[in-house]
Amino acid sequence: MPAAIRLVETPAAAFAEDVRAGLSKPQKELPCEYFYDDLGSALFEAITLLPEYGLTRADQRLVKRLAPKLPASYSVVAELGSGSGTKTRWILEALRPSAYFPIDISTAALARCQAELAPFAAVRPICSRYLDGLREVVQCRPRGTRLLLLFLGSTIGNFDVARRDEFLAEVRSLLSDGDGLLIGFDLVKPADMMIAAYDDPGGITAAFNLNLLARINRELGANFQLRNFAHEARYLAHHQRIEMHLRSRVDQCVEVPGAGVTCMLRRGETIWTESSHKVHLDQIPDIAGAFVFQRVWVDPEWPFAECLWTVDSAVLPA
Ligand SMILES: C[S@@+](CC[C@H](N)C(=O)[O-])C[C@H]1O[C@@H](n2cnc3c(N)ncnc32)[C@H](O)[C@@H]1O
Repeated sequence: MPAAIRLVETPAAAFAEDVRAGLSKPQKELPCEYFYDDLGSALFEAITLLPEYGLTRADQRLVKRLAPKLPASYSVVAELGSGSGTKTRWILEALRPSAYFPIDISTAALARCQAELAPFAAVRPICSRYLDGLREVVQCRPRGTRLLLLFLGSTIGNFDVARRDEFLAEVRSLLSDGDGLLIGFDLVKPADMMIAAYDDPGGITAAFNLNLLARINRELGANFQLRNFAHEARYLAHHQRIEMHLRSRVDQCVEVPGAGVTCMLRRGETIWTESSHKVHLDQIPDIAGAFVFQRVWVDPEWPFAECLWTVDSAVLPA
């Protein structure tokens, strides 16, 4: 019998407050974690199949390659933002852990993950934000076990550098000696390749982006007219990031009663919905400064890397 999805609530009030705060800024913005309602999670799965979105296939090739090289001593695996967990299968097959804890804010993604990975481990899904979920794992992991924490797919790129450093320090404070951390990074590559990955000609990524406004309509009673917005992806070289925006096609006024905000948009003004930071290979080892760098694997087809760190230095066999 599959374990029930454990709900660590992200209150609806937080969504309303984040929307209110984001739409009240001079550069309007919405947090990207709200992309992932049921429809958004399904659209993300479709994005991973796009020919332009090489990230997922690269990550999958790498995970298959590195899984047999992971120390067998990791007996518990947890994953931040697991999504459907498709790639994690190779790691679970190699390690055969006693438990696998996917942590995600999308119940739809967790349900898919559980169905897909149940043959390889006891799946114990946690529906929550990253750190709340990790706190749950820390509380219920069996004593004396070594935990491998995964953060695949370059989702870490959604954080800006300051927030990423803070986040990794918090992760470090929750892990113990003997634990490991495996993170996926999308590498800097020619700008046209990066932009195409976030702006496919079929419009799947545009639908994913616009669904955020549709979600606000559904859950907060807003009156965004989706046809009045255009999806936009741009690369900012000095920040090493792709930004996704929704550009207003007209002067407009949108009411969001559930967030208690009225949003005035001029024609051409944008709402910033996501950042995806890219890194250079030589930047990676220093990123998780509180951990001990072990090894990096790079995909030869699509510049993407997976990097393994450990909490202490005496864990890995040579
Ligand atoms: C870009 S997708 C990556 C999914 C999968 N790891 C992969 O590599 O294909 C990001 C995932 O993280 C989840 N997510 C986003 N923000 C989150 C947050 N603050 N806490 C927990 N999960 C989050 C989303 O629901 C989504 O499943």
